[in-house]
Amino acid sequence: MSTSLNTDHFWMPFTSNRQFKAAPRMLVSASGMYYTTEDGRQILDGTAGLWCVNAGHGHPKIIAAISQQAATLDYAPCFQMGHPTSFEAASALVSIAPAGLNRVFFCNDGSEGVDSALKIALAYHRVRGDSLRHRLIGRERGYHGVGFGGISVGGIAGNRKHFGPALPAVDHLRHPLDMGKNAFSRGLPEHGGELADELEQRLIALHDPATVAAVIVEPVQGSTGVILPPKGYLQKLRTTCDKYGILLIFDEVITGFGRLGAAFGADYFGVVPDMIVCAKALTNASVPMGAVVVKQEIHDAFMAAAPENTIEFFHGYTYSAHPLASAAMLATLDVYRSEQLFERAAAMAPYFETAAHSLKGLPHVKDVRNLGMVCGIELEGIPGKPTTRAFEVFIRCFEEKNILIRTTGDIIALSPPLIIEKRQIDELFGAIADILKR
Ligand SMILES: Cc1ncc(COP(=O)(O)O)c(C=O)c1O
Repeated sequence: MSTSLNTDHFWMPFTSNRQFKAAPRMLVSASGMYYTTEDGRQILDGTAGLWCVNAGHGHPKIIAAISQQAATLDYAPCFQMGHPTSFEAASALVSIAPAGLNRVFFCNDGSEGVDSALKIALAYHRVRGDSLRHRLIGRERGYHGVGFGGISVGGIAGNRKHFGPALPAVDHLRHPLDMGKNAFSRGLPEHGGELADELEQRLIALHDPATVAAVIVEPVQGSTGVILPPKGYLQKLRTTCDKYGILLIFDEVITGFGRLGAAFGADYFGVVPDMIVCAKALTNASVPMGAVVVKQEIHDAFMAAAPENTIEFFHGYTYSAHPLASAAMLATLDVYRSEQLFERAAAMAPYFETAAHSLKGLPHVKDVRNLGMVCGIELEGIPGKPTTRAFEVFIRCFEEKNILIRTTGDIIALSPPLIIEKRQIDELFGAIADILKR
């Protein structure tokens, strides 16, 4: 690392700061499938940054759009004022969203997207005069960002335990990972669809359906190690929510924009939620942006309830629909369309699946699970030292193999940019196999 760089002052997020600062891993530039390190190594990006650079790094069309927008209109408020790019961006997003989801609320990232969606859900019931509906249901091992709403409906103990009780009136479905029955499934697991029944039979029965405002799930749970919905699971959640007038929110921060080989997980699974939260690949991660795409009826309820000439929804961010983010998003969606990246991901998924499952039988590999261009490789942890095995693989991939992977607990999660070539898929899994063998 450059000796002049002082690393003391940046308190790094979700990082073991002391460990990192003792031996920093610095990325200084990026292009296409590769990062470049400070010492000039090319690092194959097996994780699209943090599941977000779906079109590959430094796409010239996105860079040009941001530069041009910065030179034209650096910032404009969206409170009681507007700028054209924000409206164009909303229309572009609606053009690829499931039919009926055609109103967009902009924010800056996934955490704000989740909190915005939860607030929309709670307020929607209020404006319709159904204020008894105040309860939110999330899922164990769900990750919905780090806002108080997100950690409340999220199901990761470590993200919750230091921060007090957070939101009241929240309950959680069990997560559907069952390695006993489903280990090494290719694609969607066969067993466990009935776990969705507990929404009706356990949680709704316990709390009274009239009190439940919304259910929020990730179609594929990404951050806690690629947990796939068993066949029929999401469909059942939809049916139950419909039966009891409960809103269904899909947190598609990871599954959006081609990760599963379709625009959204909703398309892949054929299940249309009432709201989709997206972020990350929305701008190819070039400028922070998040969005909640909402069914028109929900939006219209707010418009109908508020008196003329008054604000209908008391929520928003200084940087909602920031001009640079809006321009980046328009260019990004254009790249996805013109380069047919969602179709490319769908076509590459079987090759990725075969490569992932080639790890079966290697030392320490307990499970491999995959869907689209995502896979999780669960390792046998070292007794008494959870997370160390996978973290060691992560370090050795980076130091010895010039490959960036991501780990969570003792699970390796891979989610490369959708432009990845077959030879790079071979390189990625070959490197992991090599390290596991040793
Ligand atoms: C499903 C899901 N929701 C929300 C978030 C939070 O997004 P952000 O880190 O942009 O706030 C993430 C981040 O990984 C995520 O995976």
